Amino acid sequence: MPAGLLGIEDLSREEIEAILNRAKDYQPVQDHFKRLDILKGRMIVNLFFEASTRTRTSFEIAAKRLGADAVSITASGSSVSKGESLVDTLNTLAAMRPSAIVMRHSASGAPHFLARHLPIPIINAGDGTHEHPTQALLDARTILDLRPSLEGLRVAIIGDIVHSRVARSNIYLLSKFGVDIVLCGPAPLLPPELARIAPGVRITYDIREAIRDADVIMMLRVQLERQHEAAFPAGEYFHFFGLRNEHLGLARPGAIVMHPGPINRGREIASEVADSQVSAILNQVENGVAVRMAVLERILG
Ligand code: NCD
Repeated sequence: MPAGLLGIEDLSREEIEAILNRAKDYQPVQDHFKRLDILKGRMIVNLFFEASTRTRTSFEIAAKRLGADAVSITASGSSVSKGESLVDTLNTLAAMRPSAIVMRHSASGAPHFLARHLPIPIINAGDGTHEHPTQALLDARTILDLRPSLEGLRVAIIGDIVHSRVARSNIYLLSKFGVDIVLCGPAPLLPPELARIAPGVRITYDIREAIRDADVIMMLRVQLERQHEAAFPAGEYFHFFGLRNEHLGLARPGAIVMHPGPINRGREIASEVADSQVSAILNQVENGVAVRMAVLERILG
């Protein structure tokens, strides 16, 4: 089976470091970027069964900057909407011999299933509530642009943890580097067993407690599409778990605020924080391109 990238859980610290170091070479993203020919003649198919702005666009830009061709397909515009099965759609695409398939799907494990059936590297761009490996890599790149190392940092991850593939991939990655991780959210969205995902994970239901002495505050959206009813009315959620200016003084001096996007202003984060100096949200987006270049190069270069 060809090696793609299905998750962070199976990567070693060395493999993660190699990707993060290579991504550094691809920063900053400039508007007059010289197209490289590292992946010249290769074709990357982006197959997205769920909505995406950042991830899909940045995979496409990353592929093109490395000299590859990139084709993006969304489920609504494909034969999936005509009832074709996942395996049939993928076999059809595989017959056109792409070099790799980047895939986002609402079912946890969908890319793993396909990786067992197709002779093509599969890159997981988010599978259900399971993993979103390139997001965790770009988050780590963003932190390391501002801090000398991950070791010993305290990272608070706040929001809808149970449905978040971003949280899971970040927990796997950060725990491999000795980060002290605090998870926080409303009890229905943060079952206590999540503390057992990895070493170094603590749980609190109090946002102030989570933010106290944090170096990094990662906010997450409530994934309404993955639950049948909202856990809280929006206003109440913001009152208890929304990040506001008044919280920032509890964190360590120089702490940064991150969010994978899309952000819901006034729900999990106040505009005053999202648009402030401490926000690294657009740095994350920018690093998405550099990190995905490093990932594509590693898999196909
Ligand atoms: C995240 C995702 O799709 O998992 N978005 C992203 O890739 N930047 C987070 C989210 O949708 O809330």
